[in-house]
Amino acid sequence: MKISFATPRMPRSGTIVCIVMDDRKLSPSAEKLDKDSGGALTRAIGASRFTGKSDETLQVLSPANLDVARVLLVGVGKPRPGDRNPRQNRGGVILAALNALGEKKAAMFVDIQKGVEIALAAADMAYGARLRSYRFDKYRTKEKPEQKPSLQELTFLVDDPKAAEKEFAPLDKIAEGVFFTRDLVSEPPNVIYPETLSAEAKKLAALGVQVEILDEKQMKKLGMNMLLGVGVGSVRPSRLVVMQWKGNPRAANKAPVAFLGKGVTFDTGGISIKPAGGMEDMKWDMGGAGVVIGLMKALAGRKAKVNVVGICGCVENMPSGSAQRPGDIVTSMSGQTVEVINTDAEGRLVLGDALWYCQGRFKPQFMVNLATLTGAIIVALGHEYAGFFANNDELADKLTAAGKAVDEKLWRMPLGDAYDKMIDSDAADMRNIAGGRDAGSIVAAQFLQRFVNGVPWAHLDIAGTTWSKKDAATVPKGATAFGVRLLDRFVTDNYEGK
Ligand code: BES
Ligand code: MN
Ligand code: ZN
Repeated sequence: MKISFATPRMPRSGTIVCIVMDDRKLSPSAEKLDKDSGGALTRAIGASRFTGKSDETLQVLSPANLDVARVLLVGVGKPRPGDRNPRQNRGGVILAALNALGEKKAAMFVDIQKGVEIALAAADMAYGARLRSYRFDKYRTKEKPEQKPSLQELTFLVDDPKAAEKEFAPLDKIAEGVFFTRDLVSEPPNVIYPETLSAEAKKLAALGVQVEILDEKQMKKLGMNMLLGVGVGSVRPSRLVVMQWKGNPRAANKAPVAFLGKGVTFDTGGISIKPAGGMEDMKWDMGGAGVVIGLMKALAGRKAKVNVVGICGCVENMPSGSAQRPGDIVTSMSGQTVEVINTDAEGRLVLGDALWYCQGRFKPQFMVNLATLTGAIIVALGHEYAGFFANNDELADKLTAAGKAVDEKLWRMPLGDAYDKMIDSDAADMRNIAGGRDAGSIVAAQFLQRFVNGVPWAHLDIAGTTWSKKDAATVPKGATAFGVRLLDRFVTDNYEGK
């Protein structure tokens, strides 16, 4: 779908989209169209329940005296300047409505604000429309054209299209990162496995990201037995992806920021095998890695002035004759020994070594990891908030604020010594589960914390937010890429040089 910005002119075909505010107050363009059509718009509104509340829509088909097929009225309620999320959502709602109507081409008058705010409003709606337009359909070979989304061209009509384009450019780069993540997460597990996932990350080299891929031999040499143990049951060899974006050369000798992702490309549970029902969902157990790779694409794409490290532990968790057994004891890169009681608690094993490697090699300002780590976080928070844990209040507050700003919401959960004790083991330095079902997400976080070596750190448990079963305004059902927009914003607000 092509998105563009142009100066206001009356379209002669397709759909015209116009804004209506609370209490049926027409925007200037709607008012003009209403006059030109002999009051067709006010009559249609009067005959409906449309009042101009936020995200209500009403289509008026072939209004008299106009060349276009229809006018689509979109409610914006009482718009407040600076209210960016509602505008982005509106763009998504408009895109979905136009596709539902089967329209190919539409132009929207953005004419209820002035100056800078209007350029930003148009860019926000364009961004929302772009985000909603995502579709993963490469394996649907029998889909007829009429089953595919119809909209091909969406134009926003604004006084200063150049200013709107300038606002939209970085947003479009973030959307590219989001789409990359959604693609990686949507791909089936016979297509995306550690080698192919790391090969996808390698493609970021074209944007100037330095990408190293560590193979099993290199990881073995580093002592990453805890990560490697998860992959030994699979015929697919494990990989560690190490990405660096050096967007702020002036801060080259300062500590970088670091993001890490769980990249379990399929989680059967291993010998502690999962039940068959719903196991296919475990293709998205690499969601954390997908977000880190998409985030690097967004940051490099918009040339963010920041030095970032992105690390993904990529493994496949399979049962087999060579698989890790419950009861195995492995020595992690940190030297700490771990009794693997349950091979399905594998994400923490992968991330533990990745975190240790990251802090040792890069001495980062902080580390933020993302992982589809526990079913328990879904029990606690459902699919609205991602749970998160932090050993540092300032980092926690910055993440919470960024989540609010982009509407990818985080809810902080506690850490503490009493929880930490729950993973003490009689046979080794620790075990990978507590034994009971209590505080499952917290226990997993405590395990990770034993590998951060005191560095400021946060862990985002995105098990409930990585995949969605229903459409939302800017997120079609399926892979959400939850975390890309959040962390992009977190970087922009706190760590980007001028
Ligand atoms: N990948 C799963 C967590 C998960 C569950 C993500 C459902 C998304 C949806 C993780 O590796 C896992 O299996 N966790 C276990 C931990 C348990 C064995 C302590 C869980 O949550 O049941
Ligand atoms: Mn598991
Ligand atoms: Zn898992």
